[in-house]
Amino acid sequence: MPSLSLRPIVRPSDDDAFVAFLSAHEFPFHVRRRPTAADARARLADGVIDGPAAAGFWVLADGETVGTVTLEDLEDDTALIDLRLASDARGRGIGSTALPAIVTEVFGRFPSVRKLEGQTREDNVAMRRAFRRAGWVKEAHYREGWPVDGGSPLASVAYAILRSDWESGTVTPVPWDDEP
Ligand SMILES: CC(C)(COP(=O)(O)OP(=O)(O)OC[C@H]1O[C@@H](n2cnc3c(N)ncnc32)[C@H](O)[C@@H]1OP(=O)(O)O)[C@@H](O)C(=O)NCCC(=O)NCCS
Repeated sequence: MPSLSLRPIVRPSDDDAFVAFLSAHEFPFHVRRRPTAADARARLADGVIDGPAAAGFWVLADGETVGTVTLEDLEDDTALIDLRLASDARGRGIGSTALPAIVTEVFGRFPSVRKLEGQTREDNVAMRRAFRRAGWVKEAHYREGWPVDGGSPLASVAYAILRSDWESGTVTPVPWDDEP
């Protein structure tokens, strides 16, 4: 397994590299499957990296850039994650290994965040398994919550990890059967 690290994406010096990365790969489970360079620049302008309460990191494997992670709502109780690996870096355990590093970064740097959450499409098996493997808990299954171009909507599935669980090394389950 390669050695994993994170490096902040810095604006504006990393803008071109960020645009090149995003527009070079296909993201089959994102609403915008093949972002163009213009799409990527629009995301930068929208503050995906340096907007209020946002941050972005390069994911490095053995020192080589293999992906990005962007984070939103870092001043709220619950922050949101979007992890994207290069096409040729997928399926090699990097996502599963990156998640704990991301969690450490977020809980270490952003004291107001109590919970880190990610939502993914129901058929994104790799992301769902990576969440589970890293100790994240499924918290929601939004039926027909993910629009699909030219097709029926799929479910959006939410996984999260609590700061308190991260600190204590426990996994608090969701009380699914709590209706009186
Ligand atoms: C989703 C993503 C981050 C997962 O990272 P990854 O490095 O590819 O995943 P891993 O190699 O760590 O594999 C995690 C698990 O999924 C399984 N898996 C990996 N690729 C798979 C695939 N294409 N189909 C089914 N299962 C797959 C692995 O076997 C592993 O299962 P295990 O824990 O039971 O052994 C990565 O594939 C990616 O960037 N995809 C495109 C962007 C994306 O969809 N991001 C999600 C945004 S929320």
